[in-house]
Amino acid sequence: MQALTQSGRAAGPEGNEPVPAPRLSGADWWRGAVGYEVYVRSFQDTDGNGVGDLAGVTKRLAYLAALGVDVVWLTPFFASPGFDHGYDVSDYLAVDPMLGTLDDWDELSVTAKQLGLRLFVDIVPNHTSSHHEWFRQAVDDPTGPFRDYYVWADSAADGGPPNNWVSHFGGPAWTMDPGGTGQYYCHLFLPEQPDLNWANPKVMEEFAAILRTWCERGADGFRIDVAHGLTKDPELRDNPQLRQVHESMHPMDVFASFQHIYDLHRHETAVLFQQWREAVADLGAVLVGEMDTRDVDRFAEYVKDRNALHAAFVLQVGLSDWEPATTITTMLEYQAKSNGGAAWEVSNHDQARAVSRYGGGELGLRRTLALTTLMGAFDGMLFIYQGEELGLPDAEVLGHIEDPMSARNGEGMWSRDVARGPMPWSTDPDKGFTSAAVAWLHTEPLPAELTADFQTDSPHSTWRQYRFMVGLRKRYPALWQSDFELLEQGVGHVTIGRNDLRIVGNLSNAPISAPALDGADIIFQSATDAVSLVQGVTWVAAEATVVGRITARLVAD
Ligand code: GLC
Repeated sequence: MQALTQSGRAAGPEGNEPVPAPRLSGADWWRGAVGYEVYVRSFQDTDGNGVGDLAGVTKRLAYLAALGVDVVWLTPFFASPGFDHGYDVSDYLAVDPMLGTLDDWDELSVTAKQLGLRLFVDIVPNHTSSHHEWFRQAVDDPTGPFRDYYVWADSAADGGPPNNWVSHFGGPAWTMDPGGTGQYYCHLFLPEQPDLNWANPKVMEEFAAILRTWCERGADGFRIDVAHGLTKDPELRDNPQLRQVHESMHPMDVFASFQHIYDLHRHETAVLFQQWREAVADLGAVLVGEMDTRDVDRFAEYVKDRNALHAAFVLQVGLSDWEPATTITTMLEYQAKSNGGAAWEVSNHDQARAVSRYGGGELGLRRTLALTTLMGAFDGMLFIYQGEELGLPDAEVLGHIEDPMSARNGEGMWSRDVARGPMPWSTDPDKGFTSAAVAWLHTEPLPAELTADFQTDSPHSTWRQYRFMVGLRKRYPALWQSDFELLEQGVGHVTIGRNDLRIVGNLSNAPISAPALDGADIIFQSATDAVSLVQGVTWVAAEATVVGRITARLVAD
């Protein structure tokens, strides 16, 4: 067996240094973009309070530009009491003093533009904080104009919550009005996160103004939190229950025990997104929704044409475990139905890191790279989560749990903290993240090989491999601009053609022959042993993706 290396046909992370490419342009620029999610609180602290901040993001933008990404998605940095670490907003137009100031935002925005990076602000429209002025007024004045900004309902006949809806974070999705009216308010997350009433057109007006303000201040787009939420069944009917729930269950399992047809995934939300699109159309902002659905048709409706969201995260793939056959089938279904509006990712701040979820260690990293490379050949945006480019596994959390979903539901519950550890910039005791004695989320030190300092200096690091992969769309625009041709589909593997490019994604656990790559120049392989020639036949190793370019003669054939 002959391994194909740099000698003529193959290219990999080493060699072929990416050439800086111009910023993507045109109205559809986002279709070719690679984004990077910054979990702001854990990226870089500059003021020594142990919490990452906007100035820290500015400081590290050059690192992101060097990686080659186009978009930086910043998790919420608005004023917030922090019950859900910023996803409980008390003022959408103010910066949380713990994370900086509006001046810091301005500097971040100017620096990003200089470096050719675009910024996505994470907007949280399903709910506010209970400390938001709107909610305070809604409680203080039940007959006033803000009451109808939220979802209120009378109690059930027995005095209990109005229906069987549950919160993602445990317990019922209803809490009694602190103002003493006897009504309940709805919260699909914490009681401190009351749900907004999107049936009230005033709420849209408020958000249109908020979105426009951020665009005018330099935002290029938005990640929309819980975009599959927002509207509710006007009759507030019970959700069908799929299985019994019991007290010791994890809140995520309790939530999954119901079919969420009345509290989430509503057709009315798709109608609303037309208004979102109109609200920012003249400012060119790109809207990308968080879309936690298993219903590809509903997903398609939310991104369906130029009147809906530009794109949405395919959490059905991004959230799952290593399931090669299902993953390929599901990705192809989204590809076929979603108008190029998929945003692909293998992890984010809400779940176990991909390396750990896919088996840990070298195996987990190999699988992560194979799947991410393959996603980059599908229509839509590709996102990388902070630290993924270093191959980080789940963090070992020392000390107390921060994630409210776990902290409030008893000892030993799985927590999202594992994905939120401070970024390991260096081998300093504080990881180069903070000068505080301990970071807000205290995690086990990491070996030198996992730090950014080490990996950006090393010619064979995971970071270099990511940089090479991230640059593929720039160097070979056919990867996102040419028609997507499904050339072959097997159990856990797929071959895609895009003009002269051939992408073979083999997520299965056995090598496959890949005639589509015969005679091709190998542009990228997700693992060094990914492609080989055996008696004149090209093979792609298990759990690897290979991108090749066939010659003009072969295209013509
Ligand atoms: C989204 C966020 C998550 C947050 C939740 C409530 O799913 O990604 O971090 O806890 O919404 O806002």
